[in-house]
Amino acid sequence: MSDGTNLVSTDTNGAYTLNEPAGNYTLNVSSGGYLTTYQITTVTSSGTSTVNWALTNAYGSQPVPASGMAYTILAWNDLGMHCDQDDYSYFCVLPPFNTLHVQVIRRSDDASLIMSGITVSYTFPKKTNSTLHTNFWTYAAQYGWNVPPNIGITGTPLAGNMAPDANNLSWVATGIPITPYDDDGTWDPYGTAAITVKDGSGNVLQTANVVAPVSTEMMCSNCHGTTNPQLDILQKHDAYNGTTLAADQANGIVHACSECHSDNALGAPGQAGVESLSLAMHNFHKDKMTYTSAAANTTPDCYNCHPGAKTQCLRGIMSRAGKSCHDCHGDMYGMTNSILSGRQPWLQEPKCGNCHDAVHQENTNTLYRNSVLQDAPEGDMDNKLYCEACHNSTHAELTTANPADPTIPQKFQGDNYWIWNCSVCHTGTKSGSMHRQGGGD
Ligand code: HEC
Ligand code: HEC
Ligand code: HEC
Ligand code: HEC
Ligand code: HEC
Ligand code: HEC
Ligand code: HEC
Repeated sequence: MSDGTNLVSTDTNGAYTLNEPAGNYTLNVSSGGYLTTYQITTVTSSGTSTVNWALTNAYGSQPVPASGMAYTILAWNDLGMHCDQDDYSYFCVLPPFNTLHVQVIRRSDDASLIMSGITVSYTFPKKTNSTLHTNFWTYAAQYGWNVPPNIGITGTPLAGNMAPDANNLSWVATGIPITPYDDDGTWDPYGTAAITVKDGSGNVLQTANVVAPVSTEMMCSNCHGTTNPQLDILQKHDAYNGTTLAADQANGIVHACSECHSDNALGAPGQAGVESLSLAMHNFHKDKMTYTSAAANTTPDCYNCHPGAKTQCLRGIMSRAGKSCHDCHGDMYGMTNSILSGRQPWLQEPKCGNCHDAVHQENTNTLYRNSVLQDAPEGDMDNKLYCEACHNSTHAELTTANPADPTIPQKFQGDNYWIWNCSVCHTGTKSGSMHRQGGGD
């Protein structure tokens, strides 16, 4: 272990101490059989900062499983988790909505991304009828979405063809209305989408399975009572803000929170002068996180409303290294203050580059999920592959704790890691660092 100046070895228990003056340090760690890695840490004067490690085994040198394959599919969900509701008869926070991306690569010495002349389709073999598990479509029109049953708010069905995205780099299906339940009632927030790529004549070129995470585990009931938490929420809202949400509901009129509170997740402008939904929720609840013992016992506290103690949406490599919501987003006060100081909810989020170096950061002013590799081994490969194509979604970055996540590397690379093997896409012998240092060819 070293900070570039001082070198220490861990003791038999794996413990180590470095004594440094106050300042910012990059700690490098190496150990036989593991990837060499680093973390950035701050030492305050006469303070102690603890840096824990979760080392990743060095990559295998195994060949890719199907060395003769002609096409590779990289597929992922845009967010590590989507939230929806079982019951929409009182209000709507978020509708059923899931987004899948697929990049198709023709494997050759050069490798090429295929954006025309093929059909890319998706189905959910175990989730073919969402109306079995949510009453969303009974109320959808009242919430402003005039869509028939099993069609999402952007017109996307439960199975169909994908279309080129705005960057013309991936195939996308936006807003697929799946629920966490299979048709037979099994609760599976990590359901599988089956992707099929066909040529113009209908011949199957390649297939793959990918997870589409969605959960209804918003535990408002931890504090709003288990009898009818939704009614309690409307009543409290009316009592504090002079609205008539409970009376309206009794008269058959339901409201989406985003009618009044702006919500960038839905592109909803809200009403002028009313706080954004994210600010209203985190700000109001910031001093109420120990309101009941059920809430106080929920760790991290964010799992009181984000899924959740059962769902465990946070499962990526950072959580395996001991990082939790607060380390990246701040606590309830941090969430609130960042918005009060100008952060736009949903559009400005934490960055990989906050902790990793400049070679491994997002594109300028771009979210992780929209960023592409710009420092590839060779200039021709730049600006083609999404970060998520190799690393998977935020909160589920490979290698993850959930076996549902690594289906793509398992099929095309033969392990559970992020995509590291050049042979996943190239036939010839290629070598080099996937993120080249310092630019240049
Ligand atoms: C709060 C700081 C933080 C943020 C933000 C962060 N990481 Fe990490 N990352 C870490 C730590 C800590 C490790 C684990 C180091 C160890 O213990 O091995 C790690 C490890 C990794 C690894 C494994 C490689 C290695 O050197 O161990 C990958 C890949 C990775 N992160 C990708 C990402 C991506 C992609 C993002 C953005 C979506 C991101 N990280 C954001 C702190 C962070
Ligand atoms: C950790 C406890 C806790 C959790 C979890 C929780 N709340 Fe609350 N919430 C409260 C408390 C306490 C109040 C205030 C109750 C009172 O004053 O009687 C409140 C009040 C509210 C209000 C009224 C605030 C106002 O000024 O209009 C709304 C709306 C609300 N909660 C929505 C929700 C929703 C939606 C969820 C789930 C996504 C949720 N809450 C989860 C504790 C919680
Ligand atoms: C008819 C308009 C309307 C609807 C619908 C509505 N709200 Fe509000 N809400 C308001 C107004 C107005 C306020 C008070 C002004 C403000 O907070 O900006 C408020 C305040 C709040 C607050 C307290 C904010 C604070 O810091 O004190 C919370 C929490 C909240 N709303 C959550 C919700 C949730 C959750 C929903 C959906 C279940 C919802 N609201 C639906 C209009 C609405
Ligand atoms: C009382 C319920 C509640 C708690 C507790 C809560 N959230 Fe949220 N959070 C919400 C709701 C509801 C939304 C969705 C708002 C929307 O649709 O815009 C949300 C949205 C978000 C977003 C996306 C919007 C943005 O501001 O960028 C982030 C990030 C987030 N929460 C992080 C956290 C973190 C971190 C914690 C724990 C420190 C936490 N939340 C705790 C209810 C909660
Ligand atoms: C290692 C850092 C890290 C940790 C830990 C982390 N997040 Fe995030 N989170 C991010 C990043 C990065 C984004 C932005 C993703 C993007 O740019 O597309 C994000 C985005 C979000 C969003 C917006 C929707 C989305 O997925 O993009 C929500 C909500 C959220 N986080 C909640 C949480 C909650 C709740 C926890 C803890 C259970 C948590 N996060 C833990 C880094 C983290
Ligand atoms: C073609 C696959 C691929 C793409 C696309 C990709 N990465 Fe990586 N990434 C890798 C590999 C392989 C490694 C490990 C070797 C290295 O660090 O260069 C890695 C390592 C990382 C790490 C861990 C660095 C550390 O501390 O050890 C982070 C963070 C990261 N990438 C972020 C990103 C971001 C952000 C993007 C998009 C701008 C991205 N990656 C795009 C394959 C990829
Ligand atoms: C996920 C798929 C993927 C992986 C993995 C990948 N590449 Fe590429 N590579 C591409 C694509 C796509 C192009 C762009 C070809 C074009 O359109 O010009 C490319 C182009 C190249 C080129 C320029 C074309 C040529 O043959 O001279 C080189 C060199 C290259 N990659 C090297 C590497 C190396 C080295 C690795 C492993 C560290 C790697 N690639 C891993 C997809 C990939």
